[in-house]
Amino acid sequence: MIPQDFIQTLLDRVDIVDVVERYVPLKKAGTNYQARCPFHNEKSPSFTVSPTKQFYHCFGCGAHGTAITFLMQHTGMGFVEAVKELAGRTGMQVPDDGARNDPEDGRRERLYELMETAARYYKGELKTNDAAVAYLKNRGLAGETAARFGLGYAPDDWQGLARAVADYQDKGLEDAGLVIAGEGGKRYDRFRHRVMFPIRNERGKTIAFGGRVLDKGEPKYLNSPETALFHKGRELYGLHEARRAIQSVGRVIVVEGYMDVVMLAQHGVENAVATLGTAVTSDQVERLLRLADEVVFAFDGDAAGRKAAWRALENGLPQVVDGKRLGFLFLPEGEDPDSFVRAQGRAAFEALLDKATPLSQFLLDEMAAKTDLASPEGRVRLVKLTEPYLDQMRRAPLLARSLRRQLAGLSGMPSRASRFTPGPSSASVQKRGGQPSPYRVVLQALIQDPARIARLPPTLPADADPEAQALAGLMARLRRQVDMRNARHVVESYRDQPEQALMEEAEAAVLVWEDSEHDVEADFRGALATLEERAGRLAANDLSRKPLHELSPDERTFFLQSLKAKKLSALAASGESADRDDSD
Ligand code: UTP
Ligand code: MN
Repeated sequence: MIPQDFIQTLLDRVDIVDVVERYVPLKKAGTNYQARCPFHNEKSPSFTVSPTKQFYHCFGCGAHGTAITFLMQHTGMGFVEAVKELAGRTGMQVPDDGARNDPEDGRRERLYELMETAARYYKGELKTNDAAVAYLKNRGLAGETAARFGLGYAPDDWQGLARAVADYQDKGLEDAGLVIAGEGGKRYDRFRHRVMFPIRNERGKTIAFGGRVLDKGEPKYLNSPETALFHKGRELYGLHEARRAIQSVGRVIVVEGYMDVVMLAQHGVENAVATLGTAVTSDQVERLLRLADEVVFAFDGDAAGRKAAWRALENGLPQVVDGKRLGFLFLPEGEDPDSFVRAQGRAAFEALLDKATPLSQFLLDEMAAKTDLASPEGRVRLVKLTEPYLDQMRRAPLLARSLRRQLAGLSGMPSRASRFTPGPSSASVQKRGGQPSPYRVVLQALIQDPARIARLPPTLPADADPEAQALAGLMARLRRQVDMRNARHVVESYRDQPEQALMEEAEAAVLVWEDSEHDVEADFRGALATLEERAGRLAANDLSRKPLHELSPDERTFFLQSLKAKKLSALAASGESADRDDSD
């Protein structure tokens, strides 16, 4: 972990305009800079970089972030990599980079070395094993493809690896998942008599293996266990090899099998990756959407394939960003991408990709299939079932809105509005007179200047609304961490947290204010007054409806506070004292 305060200091020292300018030509426009957005196709520039606020925002696709995020999104670097890159430019030393001194990092280095040794060994063994070569030839695999993906063979030998490593007793071999220590200290190779697919991380380092049986046998594929290097819900097979193609085509194909990736690549479809025998995770979708505008899941046409696709949709929803697309392609029953591309070729496969079912359609189709649209009850059920999915599309408010409209058409029922103010266009909508909630106004004012926290009361009226919840969380965070001095610090601290999208939307609104006459301070004071008034009213309502002794301690504290605010504390003290005594 890189400490948060280091990241903040780093962001204070780099200038985002310098960083972005290396990749995208910027034009000055008022206080800010503008360009055509590098993250989606557009004719007029909606990509804005703010030198004062030190973040960028695209009003077209919602791409948003700091200098760190920009490097990650634009170059595909990982977080740590991007931090190191920026630190290098400013001459700062990343604290975590004392790697060599940290025993934990030394251990990881050892594991990488062992994995590399094993990969080299398996690769060498493939050359000398006729059965394995025949198996791959029989499946139509070319030698160059095998070399490109580093395929190998683990011989039919209990301790084959002993010939490759210096010390077969090395505990690291177990930690790397290569060797299993059995009863009575007997050690043996995990992978035997299997074709070996090295699984590499994004930088190309081998972190795990998948091994396929040559003949019939169970399991068909044996994979490395989770290790310090390998977390299968995070990694994608083939990403290192495919990254260039993904970025140049702007599309990534997600398939289910190792062989699918390898054979697609052999046929010229080089932008495919595979999950590792698990459902597609939200984390994986997020990573892929950073690299490409479109992610297409190509699954089998059978029930299992549809189920896998549905899981991908569920986990992908929170990651979809307006302007980016998720698509679903179902192959004919009994086919997988490997068999399909071998039989029909690249052009036929790419024609299928172009016709992939968009997420919106897949979602509505599946929901409609579960309900009876002929009856009013069925139509209500459709709305009830679908709403929660739409609520998850926080980063794609425009798409969610359009889906709501379709849903209303299908069900004949007006759909309730989104629970979130729309993202990318929210700022302009609000400027035209839409009414953001007072919670959001306070949230935005806090992001613009975190010092305003000092002027807020200890709590605001409780509310289940996500904006109210996010505001409460932000208030707690600012009180805990007094060093968050500006928007960048605040929003950066929400990276990978559920409220990230909401914070980014709020930050985008702040960006628009910069070039306008918007009086943030007046809005802030107005919203505070509204909230205080609401607190008072709530308390008064409660009082009129409930006997005092039925109030929970929280309600009571809250009630007393609001009474005090109205300078009626004298009344509270006399009316409440008896109840207080027997409840405390
Ligand atoms: P499939 O069973 O669909 O096989 O598994 P496949 O990819 O078509 O393999 P071939 O063509 O018969 O060689 C899809 C993926 O599920 C995981 C693997 O990642 C595999 O590529 N899997 C499958 C396992 O992890 N273990 C298994 O036993 C089977
Ligand atoms: Mn297959």
